[in-house]
Amino acid sequence: MPGKISPEKIEDVRLASDIVDIISGYLSLQKKGKNYFGLCPFHKEKTPSFSVNPEQQIFHCFGCGAGGNVFTFIMRMEGLTFPESVRLLAKQAGIILPEEDQDVEQYREKEALFYVNNMAAGFYLDYLLKSPKAQKARDYLEKRGIEQEQFKTFSIGFAPDGWDSLLKYAEKNSIKPQVLERAGLVIKKNDGGFYDRFRGRITFAIHNISGQVVGFGARRIINDNSPKYINSPETDIYQKRYVLYGLFHARENIRKENKVVIVEGYTDYISLYRRGVQNVAATSGTSLTEDHARLLRRYTANAVILYDNDSAGAAAALRGAEILLENGLDVNICTLPQGQDPDEFARKNSETGIKNLLSGSISFLEFQLNKLNISKKIGSAAQQAEATRELLAVFAKINDPLKQSYMVASLADKLHIQEAILWEEIKKFERQNIRFKSGSEEKKQSNLFFTTKKGVAELGLLTSIFVNPDLIPKIVQNLDLNLISHTDIREFFQHLIQNNVDPVLFNPAKLLGTIQDPFITRSVSQLLSDQNSQQLYHSWKYAYECLISLQLSVVDDEIHHLRENIQNNQKNAREILEKIKNLKEHKKQIAAGHYIEQ
Ligand code: UTP
Ligand code: MN
Repeated sequence: MPGKISPEKIEDVRLASDIVDIISGYLSLQKKGKNYFGLCPFHKEKTPSFSVNPEQQIFHCFGCGAGGNVFTFIMRMEGLTFPESVRLLAKQAGIILPEEDQDVEQYREKEALFYVNNMAAGFYLDYLLKSPKAQKARDYLEKRGIEQEQFKTFSIGFAPDGWDSLLKYAEKNSIKPQVLERAGLVIKKNDGGFYDRFRGRITFAIHNISGQVVGFGARRIINDNSPKYINSPETDIYQKRYVLYGLFHARENIRKENKVVIVEGYTDYISLYRRGVQNVAATSGTSLTEDHARLLRRYTANAVILYDNDSAGAAAALRGAEILLENGLDVNICTLPQGQDPDEFARKNSETGIKNLLSGSISFLEFQLNKLNISKKIGSAAQQAEATRELLAVFAKINDPLKQSYMVASLADKLHIQEAILWEEIKKFERQNIRFKSGSEEKKQSNLFFTTKKGVAELGLLTSIFVNPDLIPKIVQNLDLNLISHTDIREFFQHLIQNNVDPVLFNPAKLLGTIQDPFITRSVSQLLSDQNSQQLYHSWKYAYECLISLQLSVVDDEIHHLRENIQNNQKNAREILEKIKNLKEHKKQIAAGHYIEQ
């Protein structure tokens, strides 16, 4: 059972979770006087009567009377208990709570990782500022227009050009190399020793949303054959799918400007920031994820994508735009002169020049239409239809019906095509998008299926995840999708894996909506609203048993199949019996958990 959270920690979490920030992640708020207003998420309304008071950090709906603090909001919105809502916000804020008794260890571990990352950032910065051996790094940065005063602001440093500089520094501070290794700062050698991961490189510290250093990107300063950047690996405190470089520094500006400019690189970010474009965030080497979108949505619903003007940049921009659109952001795309990146443009142009470029950015729709126009000029009717379809596939994913209608209307207008025809296509895509569909035959058999061992196991795994999303990584790690028979459940897990869904950001209401089989949705939602019956599903133990039962069922099927075979195949009977014997041995190993990583 999760341990009790101390009142002091709860207060820490509350202070770190600005109510306007958090609520903005779920709905659009507009400032009126001191307060913010929006459409109440807890009852249907057309005019905003839901207010948020940033001074008192409370919300209140004049329509339905709902109200409370940030925890109350999360409890109602995500359907969580009080401690669960505290945990969710703590995770998002990077505050560590002791989870369970044995997890005090884990708690210390994460604190240790924050500590050593922070120490490394200080060490690299100091070295860059003071060491004679960092002259070439200072020269390099000067050439790139990054000045001394920015080193500290952005936590830029230089990792000495040796194999054990950080190791030695850490040792002086009584820090074990094993901790550095778990923080991704050093690498273990075959002989058991360690060496520094970052050597002779400029380091850009990466902060989480609470401002703690969680990792580094490190750029080479000479053109050798090594990779341009070497980055920290994923660790217990650094999950790339929901960290955006520089968001911590820029978030206030993003809210003020009600817009975020998204770039790809560290240097793009820094150059724009220096030039006065301070509502910026960088993806730094990963593609935009749904989790990034949700994070940004806390500060604004308007994004401008400013990626390199080369083919890789354009492709990434489109993919990013789709993800942002699907997650409720409005997206503009800004195009740089051919071959340039934002860093180069920012250095070559004045602040006004950059702002002009940005104000010339066009909506995702226009951007796609331009592409369509090009294909219109050069393409066949079939090619044009294909290009239009591609665009409609994206429209089909937009959750906001009003926004979707406007976009369709506008597209129909521009293409001189009847709206109805476009809608027909969109509906087709929408039907495809409900990927978690099951055939009608399957549906009829559904209830029966859930009385079998396999059915119980499959539903058990799914339920475990809804009751306790923290189990996601362990379950997913041990799950062979091919073993799952139920289409909805298989596709649910496929979605978890493909999108790398993080336990913290797991959204039960949303994901439950993607499952079609009414038997499943009913049984899961019933369970979620009844705390007392959740116990069984909370522990890893039950999920573990389900995984084993799933693995066993395949072998059982195989044995069954072989037995049938013997009847028609007397000649090979002995061979088949031998196989069955082996499979039975195999079953013993499965049952003992040989194929599960704990
Ligand atoms: P770019 O190749 O556009 O680098 O990659 P950049 O930001 O323009 O770098 P500079 O200006 O030459 O210094 C964009 C981002 O992709 C990641 C980095 O985060 C980089 O900022 N990247 C790139 C890597 O992680 N590894 C690489 O080898 C290259
Ligand atoms: Mn660049």
